Amino acid sequence: MLSGIQPTGDFHLGNYLGALRGWVEDQHEHDSYFCVVDLHALTIPRDPAELRAKSMECANLLLAVGLDPDVCTLFLQSHVPEHAELSWLLECTASMGELRRMTQFKEKTARGGEEAARVGLFTYPVLQAADILLYDADRVPVGDDQRQHLELTRDLATRFNQRYGETFVVPAAAIPAAGRGARIMDLQQPTAKMSKSAESPQGVVLLLDPPEAIERKVKRAVTDADTGTGSVRYDPAAKPGVSNLLELLGLATGRAPAQVAADYSQYGPLKVDTAAALVELLRPIQQRYWELTADPGVAEKALEQGADKAHSVASVTLRRARHSVGLLPRP
Ligand code: TYM
Repeated sequence: MLSGIQPTGDFHLGNYLGALRGWVEDQHEHDSYFCVVDLHALTIPRDPAELRAKSMECANLLLAVGLDPDVCTLFLQSHVPEHAELSWLLECTASMGELRRMTQFKEKTARGGEEAARVGLFTYPVLQAADILLYDADRVPVGDDQRQHLELTRDLATRFNQRYGETFVVPAAAIPAAGRGARIMDLQQPTAKMSKSAESPQGVVLLLDPPEAIERKVKRAVTDADTGTGSVRYDPAAKPGVSNLLELLGLATGRAPAQVAADYSQYGPLKVDTAAALVELLRPIQQRYWELTADPGVAEKALEQGADKAHSVASVTLRRARHSVGLLPRP
């Protein structure tokens, strides 16, 4: 199993409930690799000092949510050069047309235009495919927004295998069910996913937000105009704001959103309880995070150990892929 997260912006509830929380459970059941994708972070302008700081922050947060470096392999993408090299072989497998169809590329270039976009932003999904294929991963736990990138990875693996002979394991996305974290929505704009690059920070609950900030953001969450009888119900299409709150409270308390809805008739109490449950959900993570930041040696050791393990696996797969396409081994 492999998954990755970008060390950009700050982690939010969407990252946690859509991906990280599942990783923590999965690590005990699968041979798991978790990658802080610092090379992916270079696809848009980034201050070097900030990238360094965010990469460590990201590693600490992954440890704080519960990844155990003695159980799983946690590493920085740039520490394992095989990612960039396999990406090249896969760029020579992918077509311009299929990369142009990637909705994330279209969204990210909508404002600034394609001409000014970095080439890396265009080829980004191919690097993501390399991340996955290097570890023979058959399970890739991600949020719903990564579905298309996973389809591309499957297409590239299949095409490569057809062209050059069996080389890669064809992976499958493991996406939480709808209503169970697949797509957490922005609290201010409940028809858009919660995102690191959201227009307003008020709609995004960060994993490191203090309790007052969580309470304020949830209290101001946009709900729906209809407040009559039966207005608290789980109906993402007709009532996206309320449904998102029901999903959040359900995830924090281990219940289905429709089941949570049965306990409420008004928005006010739903918001109060949601905020309180989120504060409790995040409290232990925040505590561990602050302990870890006081002791940077823990993350450094985890990353060192992780890079060694990841490299030992990735180098074998890369050698196989190089052989498949006809590159000679170094004498
Ligand atoms: P990234 O860094 O944007 O997000 C990390 C994970 O969080 C999930 N996620 C969400 N889930 C539910 N609701 C949301 N609002 C929400 N927002 C984010 C994402 O789906 C993701 O699982 N391209 C990837 C990183 C990547 C990767 C990989 C993932 C690089 N290589 C290989 C898997 C395998 C990305 O930018 O994720």
